[in-house]
Amino acid sequence: MPATRTALIALSSNQYLQNALPRFPASRRVARRFVAGEGLEDAIVAVRALNARGLCGSLDHLGENVTSEAEAAAARDEYLRALATIKAAALDCHVSLKLTQMGLDLDEELCYENMCRILHEAAELGNFVRIDMEGSAYVERTIALYRRLCLAYQNVGIVIQAYLRRSQADVDRLVADGVGRLRLCKGAYDEPPAIAYRARERVTRSLQELACTALAPGARERGAYPGIASHDEAVINFVRAYAYQWGIPPSAYEFQMLYGIRRELQASLARKGYKVRIYVPYGTHWYPYLMRRLAERPANLAFFLRALFGD
Ligand code: FDA
Repeated sequence: MPATRTALIALSSNQYLQNALPRFPASRRVARRFVAGEGLEDAIVAVRALNARGLCGSLDHLGENVTSEAEAAAARDEYLRALATIKAAALDCHVSLKLTQMGLDLDEELCYENMCRILHEAAELGNFVRIDMEGSAYVERTIALYRRLCLAYQNVGIVIQAYLRRSQADVDRLVADGVGRLRLCKGAYDEPPAIAYRARERVTRSLQELACTALAPGARERGAYPGIASHDEAVINFVRAYAYQWGIPPSAYEFQMLYGIRRELQASLARKGYKVRIYVPYGTHWYPYLMRRLAERPANLAFFLRALFGD
């Protein structure tokens, strides 16, 4: 993993920058490339435009690692508001959230209860909730809580990160247990080699392998439905070819991408008849999200620095 990427991911949890950077108009401008806006209304406008182009959405109210029960309740209530607004606007759009936003660091029971409120409301409204995957310190607890929620709710899915060495075993077990509603991605955090693949090609191969596992006939019979979350054509074309070769219909899976990234690819897959879901973040807590996006592509950092300090 290049040093710049490691440094940017480390900076994503820097409190000083988290408070200072959002005050600069230039950094807000750069954030707008990846974030739909600061309010739910902005996100709804963005999703409506995506729907009009044949793309579905998943709204993410930005925020992570809340430090009080009140903050977790506010995050929960924002998701309840988002679900009601999606329904009222008749949008094709799920929601994505982080368990640390729902209070996982404070009290697991509180987090579970907040999730139940959201999942109950989402079920009433015919919607679906995706649990994002955070850094490795949270993986075990996130999977455990997801499994617990699956005992009562069908409308919940989880994210698995292909860079983690454990992920093949996790996917095997989730699929075998009939809870394979999986978003599969490479992974956005900086994890040590003891637990994560660091070479780019190895991570790509791991993502391809996880997709094959979730697309196997036995997996699909057990309800597995993978969202292939990648902008990498080596992954996307592999999945398309694999599905074609084995007669797996496009309705058995979907592609997922991030708001503002590879828009032509998003549109071209939708035109070819694939379901493409765009992750649409909004809110004022965009700093860590922006840092992870900058870390993924050095050219983004150059763009960001130019915007901050001028050409
Ligand atoms: P890769 O990084 O190799 O990028 C392939 C190509 O896509 C690049 O060459 C470039 O053209 C373009 N690209 C990728 N990232 C870009 C960027 N930031 N700016 C501009 N161009 C870019 N991670 C996680 O740990 N937990 C999670 O819950 C999620 N959730 C999630 C949801 C969705 C819908 C997506 C698409 C991704 C995530 N991720 C995530 C992030 C994921 O783990 C990964 O970091 C990014 O998707 C980048 O990996 P790619 O597979 O796109 O490949």
